[in-house]
Amino acid sequence: MTQIRAANTLHATFHRTTFYPTPLIILMTSTISCPDNQTAENDRIDFDAIRELTQSETKEVDQLILKELSSDVVLINQIGQYIVNSGGKRLRPMLLLLAVKALGYKGEHHLILAAVIEFIHTATLLHDDVVDESDLRRGRNTVNAVWGNAASVLVGDYLLSRTFEMMVRTGNMRVMDLVSHTTTAIAEGEVLQLLNIHNPATTEKKYLEVISRKTAILFSAATQLTAILNESDASTEKALKEYGMHLGIAFQLIDDVLDYRANPEQTGKNIGDDLSEGKPTLPLIHAIQQSSEKDADIIRTAIKEGNRDAFADIFAIIESCDAITYTEQRAREEAAFAKQALEILPPSKYKNAMVALAEFSVQRNY
Ligand code: IPE
Ligand code: IPE
Ligand code: MG
Ligand code: MG
Repeated sequence: MTQIRAANTLHATFHRTTFYPTPLIILMTSTISCPDNQTAENDRIDFDAIRELTQSETKEVDQLILKELSSDVVLINQIGQYIVNSGGKRLRPMLLLLAVKALGYKGEHHLILAAVIEFIHTATLLHDDVVDESDLRRGRNTVNAVWGNAASVLVGDYLLSRTFEMMVRTGNMRVMDLVSHTTTAIAEGEVLQLLNIHNPATTEKKYLEVISRKTAILFSAATQLTAILNESDASTEKALKEYGMHLGIAFQLIDDVLDYRANPEQTGKNIGDDLSEGKPTLPLIHAIQQSSEKDADIIRTAIKEGNRDAFADIFAIIESCDAITYTEQRAREEAAFAKQALEILPPSKYKNAMVALAEFSVQRNY
């Protein structure tokens, strides 16, 4: 769509001046959004209030990230700084830091693991933007758009290799086992997704398998790692793993909604990328099932062709059969499972913040 492209070109020049996307702060409309209290579904979550709970550790993690990025290969420094300094919610390290606090962990390895998790995330973004041919991320031109595909892939590889050096420093075999299985699963998820591209017969089940691996497993590793570090009992570890998994699925479901219905100025990403790539995400999969045969055929063709020009028509169809509402509802269900899993933890403001982040993953608009 020409309007979308024009809007995106405009936003591509939009640079955030602060480390985090401050224009995107979610409104606090009630006292319940304070992490000291339990959250209710309809209250807006104050993401910044939650971030404050881990502020000093987050600073240390950010310093560690910058230190570990450094290389005597200049281009690696340049690209690393570019992507890391362009912002990002730092949601995954935040989850890890909240979970260690909720468990009362007294050691020091959580900082390095929080950096490891963010490095893995950043590496997957560098690879993902090449595969998805995206040109806007965190309000800036993507690394592939500025330096090219090869540089983006290779610096992504560098970051992944760095994570292996870093995690070895924990000297904990279970940590190393989980992190390495996680990176393998993410790669499998991305390849599985590649197999679904341009395939309108992709089922909801297959889609869930993809998002579980490419996205949710990293959230799940972030929280499960805290139980491993803390040497918590098996049921606590399982609960934290499940919490991360369900939260991650909810997060990606909403990401796939936002690809159709976000303000690029808020997300810092283009809309319509999934459609232009022929990616069968849940809004499309559900719309094929629910709409008239004629509309379903329009969607099937759009998936096969991967055509951004069809955006307005496709959006109208998915709205008319409530496919966005359905996807949001599925995300709400996943967030509810995530919250349920936390019941095993003792009461604390950190636990409450984790409950609130499950809700945030559904409410978010960036
Ligand atoms: C983007 O993740 C990739 C997905 C798994 C959807 P985030 O939305 O957490 O990206 P940043 O780090 O905040 O930019
Ligand atoms: C998440 O999927 C990709 C990764 C897990 C790396 P998307 O392709 O939807 O993520 P965005 O929208 O580009 O951030
Ligand atoms: Mg992408
Ligand atoms: Mg997306």
